[in-house]
Amino acid sequence: MINTITILGGHGKNGTAEPVQRIDLRMGDVISVVGPTGSGKTTLINDIELFANANTQTGRRILINGAPAPAEYHDDPARNPIALITQHTTFLSDLPVGEFLHTHARIRISDATQRQVPVGRTLDFANQLTGEPIALDSHMTELSGGQTRALLIADATIICNTPIVLLDEVENAGIHRTRALELLRQYRKIFIFVTHDPRIALLSDYRIVMQGGTITQVLHTDMAEQKVAGIVSKLDDTLSLLRDKIRRGERLTMAELETFA
Ligand SMILES: Nc1ncnc2c1ncn2[C@@H]1O[C@H](COP(=O)(O)OP(=O)(O)O)[C@@H](O)[C@H]1O
Ligand SMILES: [Mg+2]
Repeated sequence: MINTITILGGHGKNGTAEPVQRIDLRMGDVISVVGPTGSGKTTLINDIELFANANTQTGRRILINGAPAPAEYHDDPARNPIALITQHTTFLSDLPVGEFLHTHARIRISDATQRQVPVGRTLDFANQLTGEPIALDSHMTELSGGQTRALLIADATIICNTPIVLLDEVENAGIHRTRALELLRQYRKIFIFVTHDPRIALLSDYRIVMQGGTITQVLHTDMAEQKVAGIVSKLDDTLSLLRDKIRRGERLTMAELETFA
């Protein structure tokens, strides 16, 4: 059982030592990774996914429960405890969604009597994240970007049930990101969101700040920020509402903005 992942610092793009030399991520933590484009966010989560052992360009090391990752994590895809979802992740199959999920459940869940429920739950989960519901008989390649991302997140969380889920800037794909966070919080896993979204950053337990290829700070959402988070959420809901109205071909009015005017 995985309890902690430790990131041991390496060096930045210019060779200087990483300012934060150790972070222990605990099971149940929701973490954001923030920083400008090019600051090394994707590289950091790739290090985690690869169980880096001073053998990547960053020199970082990743420990699982305080020790280097066991070889079986690399060697057997069914035992890999990490699911990584990026904006580019796509399905290699063109099965109907239902068949894909059942096939996946057969591989990941050994007890045949236990397979039916997760498939249904996975689809429900995915459909709470996407505006356009996914049908069991739609083909995987017909899904929109948002539907694909939603199904991947649901599949990783429920069917694969990996203890660690990494999400690299999936918020732009058109999924309900706060709904995702709420749903994901019901599962005891380590979730790492690479994000530019203040709402996700503030709803996380803490955020890792990147600069020049290194981790420069770890910021916990403090009391002052928790107050800010409430207003940020309202702002974000208002923007979503405006987006929906525009999509439906409606006109915007000041009424929607009253709380902020
Ligand atoms: N510690 C590091 N040492 C050397 N190169 C790095 C390091 N971190 C990131 N890079 C390189 O910097 C570039 C941008 O990193 P990337 O992780 O894609 O940034 P981001 O995801 O924040 O936009 C990549 O080419 C990556 O290989
Ligand atoms: Mg990136």
